[in-house]
Amino acid sequence: TPNELALTPPMGWNTWNRFGCKINEKLIRQAADAMVSSGMRDAGYVYIVIDDCWQGERDAKGNIRPDPLRFPSGMKALGDYIHAKGLKFGIYSDAGQLTCGKRPGSWGHEYQDARTYASWGVDYLKYDWCSTYTQDAPSTYTTMSDALRATGRPIVFSICEWGVNKPWLWAKNVGNLWRTTDDIYDHWSGQDGYQHSVLAILDLQVGLDGFAGPGHWNDPDMLEVGNGGMSNVEYQSHFSLWAMLAAPLMAGNDLADMSAETKAILTNREVIAVDQDPLGIEASRVAKQGDYEVWARPLKGGGRAVLLLNRSATAHAITVDWADLNLPASLRMKVRDLWTHKDLPAARGSFTANVPSHGVAMLRME
Ligand code: GLA
Repeated sequence: TPNELALTPPMGWNTWNRFGCKINEKLIRQAADAMVSSGMRDAGYVYIVIDDCWQGERDAKGNIRPDPLRFPSGMKALGDYIHAKGLKFGIYSDAGQLTCGKRPGSWGHEYQDARTYASWGVDYLKYDWCSTYTQDAPSTYTTMSDALRATGRPIVFSICEWGVNKPWLWAKNVGNLWRTTDDIYDHWSGQDGYQHSVLAILDLQVGLDGFAGPGHWNDPDMLEVGNGGMSNVEYQSHFSLWAMLAAPLMAGNDLADMSAETKAILTNREVIAVDQDPLGIEASRVAKQGDYEVWARPLKGGGRAVLLLNRSATAHAITVDWADLNLPASLRMKVRDLWTHKDLPAARGSFTANVPSHGVAMLRME
């Protein structure tokens, strides 16, 4: 890994999924306030990440400046505000000349920008891949990784090149997390024409689990929980699946205007504990029969997290067989339901739950 950071998947909030380019310093301060008052910070969410469109022009010396209309107080003051709340400050740039939102990128200014971010108190950099033309991805990301390290400030490095150059093969010592796919959309499945739905992204994670571990994580993109395009059952599944995948948990909703259901999903501590398990072993899909799947990951202390997923349009019983978990059929396991927060009767050989349409059962077994 490039640094000693992100030993468990980073958790926080990012402007992009909900607000896109419509951001300003007041919105960020309100999000930081809501992160604390909602209980999200205490549940583990610490990074407040400003995505694209914060940038203004470079000054005469080439120093990047924030958009003076949207961020009139400047980024140092905003970072101070965020830090005073016990949170950490994240920002966004791009490896090419322009960001995806056509603001100045960091190409040719990597060391200068890294020093600027450090002077603002930045703790996390998301680094995008627009307008990079013929640039080589590993060396381009290595330049910024080196520039961040040279500042002497611990800064989590989030590689956002959408999986096009298979970053899981080269980014382990370059960044702390790397996107594995194109952008997520607030949709459950691709059947309605949305290619980067939750299920489409999930399918693209199969086979990548071996590449993740403490300090270097697969990033299936940020959360859409609470943004309105899915049912609460689907959001619960989205969140559970991302926790199984040891994914960075970056909330993408309006924290200052959250339903009770959204808050309950995002702050489920038993599910978060699976995401944050110190072993950092990502789940793999251990069984699939048509629309019914079993995902599992080992946890510290010898237990397993097990998720039963029902992709079909009707409720259905789904079984995990101990053989799917490489465990002897004679073994008796305690079973806890991480959504009802109840201990279920111990099981031997297999366990079956009735799973709602588009829903999951998420269990801890030991
Ligand atoms: C790309 C990234 C997104 C977001 C936008 C901003 O599409 O993948 O996550 O950062 O750029 O323009």
